[in-house]
Amino acid sequence: MRTERLVLREPEARDRAAVIELLASPEVGAYLGGAQPRDELERAIPEAPDRRPGLFVVDLDGTMIGQIMLTRDTGHLRQAAGRVELGYLFLPRAWGCGYATEACAAALDWFAGALPGEPVVLATQTANVGSMRLAAKLGFVEVERFEAYGAEQWFGMWSPPA
Ligand SMILES: CC(C)(COP(=O)(O)OP(=O)(O)OC[C@H]1O[C@@H](n2cnc3c(N)ncnc32)[C@H](O)[C@@H]1OP(=O)(O)O)[C@@H](O)C(=O)NCCC(=O)NCCS
Repeated sequence: MRTERLVLREPEARDRAAVIELLASPEVGAYLGGAQPRDELERAIPEAPDRRPGLFVVDLDGTMIGQIMLTRDTGHLRQAAGRVELGYLFLPRAWGCGYATEACAAALDWFAGALPGEPVVLATQTANVGSMRLAAKLGFVEVERFEAYGAEQWFGMWSPPA
């Protein structure tokens, strides 16, 4: 998929270094339970990328700057049970440019066509201000707030255009 500035595509072997950078970043992990040790990631991440429906690499000028996931019920929250959940991770050097908004809006558009009428849910820490702003800009509406993983969580829902 193409947006004005970005390409959303399947993961490729050449994205591996950026995936490791993403998961090893303390800034990226700040509200996600922390960064993962780089040496562990180097051992654990296979050369052949994990490809599954709803997993998009966000590519700017041929280089991965982030990932978007539209995944059904990973089992981590009872609120998301049976639902499709949106997740997003962008490299800090790509923050503040509107890329996450542009890419997630395109992914939601794609989703609305692929599974018409199906809502999407999202959970984020309320302290994660950038993520909260992004959820609001994408049209997610608050369903509830709750405590989990030692922090206040925001749980929102996006409904496809009628
Ligand atoms: C959450 C995350 C994706 C947000 O990234 P981001 O770059 O702040 O997101 P946005 O795309 O909304 O861009 C932010 C800013 O870019 C600015 N911007 C600059 N140029 C822009 C353009 N052409 N179009 C739109 N916005 C632009 C805007 O001012 C916008 O700020 P605003 O919200 O005040 O309007 C990022 O912080 C991240 O990856 N965090 C770590 C992972 C994480 O916590 N994920 C949440 C898991 S639930």
